[in-house]
Amino acid sequence: MVEVTFIEPDGNRRVVSASVGLTLMEVARNDGIRGIEAECGGACACSTCHVYIAGDWVDRMSERTPIEEDMLDFAHEPDPATSRLACQIPISEDLDGLIISVPQRQC
Ligand code: FES
Repeated sequence: MVEVTFIEPDGNRRVVSASVGLTLMEVARNDGIRGIEAECGGACACSTCHVYIAGDWVDRMSERTPIEEDMLDFAHEPDPATSRLACQIPISEDLDGLIISVPQRQC
């Protein structure tokens, strides 16, 4: 298990335990994190699991795939540097301490 902090749209901080192997979207959904809709269920086909990676974690994340890049174009106010789709981020031990901001709204 690793620890992930979600900053919900209202600024509320939620620290959750995340199982290695799940995606960040699945962790958010399982813990009832507000603001992540994940309408396509993780198929990288909706962009409603858009999140912002906080601080220096950006440089420690895996690269976006081309399809994730394309889908981020449909997200609400994507940030070229920090935006990711949570369903495309597998939880690994390397992500212990990760901090994520959830946008004010999706699409
Ligand atoms: Fe639809 Fe991530 S859940 S793109």
